[in-house]
Amino acid sequence: MNIAIDGPAGAGKSTIAKRLAKELGFVYVDTGAMYRAMALYVLEQEINASEEEEISAAVEEIDISIRYQDGEQQVFLNGENVNGKIRREEVGNMASAVSVYPKVRRKLTALQQKLAADTDVIMDGRDIGTCVLPGAEVKIYLTASTLARAKRRYDELQAKGESCDLEAIRLDIEERDERDMNRAASPLRQAEDAFLLDSSDKTIEEVVAIIREMAAAKGSFS
Ligand code: DC
Repeated sequence: MNIAIDGPAGAGKSTIAKRLAKELGFVYVDTGAMYRAMALYVLEQEINASEEEEISAAVEEIDISIRYQDGEQQVFLNGENVNGKIRREEVGNMASAVSVYPKVRRKLTALQQKLAADTDVIMDGRDIGTCVLPGAEVKIYLTASTLARAKRRYDELQAKGESCDLEAIRLDIEERDERDMNRAASPLRQAEDAFLLDSSDKTIEEVVAIIREMAAAKGSFS
């Protein structure tokens, strides 16, 4: 069984997917991390985000792969574990920018489909229900208001002791949504057969419980 969770930045996809993967014994695949690894390469090589040809050529040269250590997904870029380097806002924004290019998407989609081929996965991203795993048994479109998503990100950064500005975060999220939803190549949208779940006023536990029940209805879980 495969579970697809799509939605905009900050909707809680990875938190929810990680919990469910643990509860159901599925493998969690974070596809955003793969786009982030690609973005890290572009940043390190100082390639401009608008250089489609150069970025498409780089796709041919680089190797992105996934391994699991203690159940945690690790992303490797040309053999280097880059998990510690891909969480910065700068990398997330560059990931959104490079993910508009079809060559980037083709390479990472193929890798994601291979991962799901013979394992039960919970995969999160932007195009999982629509393009990567159109046959997934459970499809969720997880969203939340822009303000709720910005507030969560703000609280996260505050907890880490990083200085941040709520309005700047909100604008950043809006800009990312706009690009992810309006690109030509597999834009972020709710698949026709996906269940719309708004987490603005729900706790993590409530959201997990809803998806767990949907999975149970489709398979042999309790
Ligand atoms: O989920 P995230 O913030 O780690 O994703 C970073 C960017 O990568 C996101 O803004 C758009 C892109 N992305 C994508 O285009 N398709 C996916 N399946 C996952 C991420």
